[in-house]
Amino acid sequence: MAEVIIVRDQEEAGSIAASLVVEQLQRKPDTVLGLATGSTPLSTYAALAATIRDMGLDVSQVRGFALDEYLGVPPEHPQSYRSVITSEVVVPLGLTPSLIHTPRGFGTGVQASGDEYESAILAAGGIDIQILGIGTNGHVGFNEPGSSLASTTRIKALAAQTRADNARFFGSPGDVPTHCVTQGLGTIQRARQLVLLAFGPAKASAVAAALDGPVSASVPGSIVQLHPRATVIVDEEAAALLQHADYHRMARAGVAGLGLG
Ligand code: F6R
Repeated sequence: MAEVIIVRDQEEAGSIAASLVVEQLQRKPDTVLGLATGSTPLSTYAALAATIRDMGLDVSQVRGFALDEYLGVPPEHPQSYRSVITSEVVVPLGLTPSLIHTPRGFGTGVQASGDEYESAILAAGGIDIQILGIGTNGHVGFNEPGSSLASTTRIKALAAQTRADNARFFGSPGDVPTHCVTQGLGTIQRARQLVLLAFGPAKASAVAAALDGPVSASVPGSIVQLHPRATVIVDEEAAALLQHADYHRMARAGVAGLGLG
């Protein structure tokens, strides 16, 4: 079972997720990070930037792979995930730009982009720690419901729900790209550690289906149930429909109270 941590707010979630990343960075200075975009990981990236600064951590060798990219959006567009990863992650954390990758979603030969990206992740030795959000329809990366559990990085169509949810970044659902290049569910499962975050009432049913329902292509987030090292960090609103919320709270309080250091 994934470790489920129910927190007060996004700031607490961000500091817990950042501490998991920092432990990994301390073990391996050229750690390979898997980077989600969207609103959910922002408190994690902010906490990580502050910790790196306060501890004076050398992150010059850290490598990174974004989860996904919109298809047909030029990299310099402010809503391309290349731009978002640069402004939310590379610059604030002080990472080396040439070591941080996003899938190629623009230009000629884009059909080969998924295979190229998958090969680049393998050549880097695989992702050490993957930060994930979850869509209101249960997607992770842009693996929409119905995606193969064994899938690798490839071009996918975005679900109507996802385009509606992401309209806030583009102005209207019609302006949201129809397709993307996304790491597959198989790719995500090969990461050595997963940290999935979710906040707010709109995520409650997706979180419950992912954690308490059957492992199923209909709920791509349910892959966390198969992963040997997955941490799910949710606020009370996103945890509202979890069957075992009391157990998760008790387990966390129990370990903290044992004084094991
Ligand atoms: C982002 C990604 C998506 C988001 C999800 C939640 O790279 O792959 O799975 O994590 O759509 O988005 P937010 O965090 O904006 O609610």
